[in-house]
Amino acid sequence: MAQVSEQIDRAFDTLLTVPDDPRGALYRAMRHAAIGGGKRLRPLLVVASARLFGVGEQQALRAGLALECIHVYSLIHDDLPAMDDDDMRRGKPTVHKAFDEATAILAGDSLHALAFEILSDPATHADPFVRADLVLELARSAGPAGMAGGQMMDIEAERRSFDLATVTRLQALKTGALISCGIEFGMILGRVAPEGRTGLRGYARDIGLAFQIADDILDATGDEALVGKKLGKDEGAGKETFLTLLGLDRAREQARVLVDQAIAHLHQFGSEADLLRDLARFVLERDR
Ligand code: IPE
Ligand code: IPE
Ligand code: MG
Ligand code: MG
Ligand code: MG
Repeated sequence: MAQVSEQIDRAFDTLLTVPDDPRGALYRAMRHAAIGGGKRLRPLLVVASARLFGVGEQQALRAGLALECIHVYSLIHDDLPAMDDDDMRRGKPTVHKAFDEATAILAGDSLHALAFEILSDPATHADPFVRADLVLELARSAGPAGMAGGQMMDIEAERRSFDLATVTRLQALKTGALISCGIEFGMILGRVAPEGRTGLRGYARDIGLAFQIADDILDATGDEALVGKKLGKDEGAGKETFLTLLGLDRAREQARVLVDQAIAHLHQFGSEADLLRDLARFVLERDR
């Protein structure tokens, strides 16, 4: 994780050179959000999945960088006053606090566009069909049938109460879609045939849900200094989460079952999948 974090930080540093013209604040805002502090779980999932299929690490990292661009954009917009209205992210002031709202909106927009620029570049993969597949997968995962759709449901969740099935769907879109996209990227880069993708898709679905249950548990019981963002937000917003529906003990138990199930999905792989197994455990055991 430390290694991938360092590589992603370095890639953002190169990508986001601040120009000596009136766009300077936009680039500084993107750097503020993108460099330093994130766990880089999604790029690491791309690397871990790609590793199973002999994909070059540089290709996996480029695809992971694109996915992280979308994730960072989603965090910048999620923190805006119109959404969660948060002041802290990754242990730093949020972008609209450190800059202003308009700059934060544009920094998010720009990271969104950059993601697709990175994927479309021949440096990501020589085969244009593979590049088109990566673009399609990311577009679906980020859009109304993925992360953005989940964010909309999350806003609705403050106004009415959802049952467990609806909360599960909300979380699968809001958080699960980008996590699944990371695993799928590895399979796309490795040109894995559709019938060979079922096990890893099951793995991705399970860790995605476990990850969000852990986020909800951290929101209720975590340490703000470690997590680097304001906690207790879900309860304050009166939002239905896995925690409100199941209670802390059953939510933890459910997440544990999901992690075991995720690891069971990897049975066809040997020690080359150990990083994915470790990541499944990390998703739940993490304190940040
Ligand atoms: C936070 O994601 C937002 C959710 C989808 C729950 P992460 O917990 O991966 O945040 P960073 O990237 O490490 O800051
Ligand atoms: C945000 O979910 C998920 C996305 C940005 C897609 P949350 O609002 O729960 O994330 P945190 O807790 O602010 O990181
Ligand atoms: Mg939110
Ligand atoms: Mg939030
Ligand atoms: Mg949260």
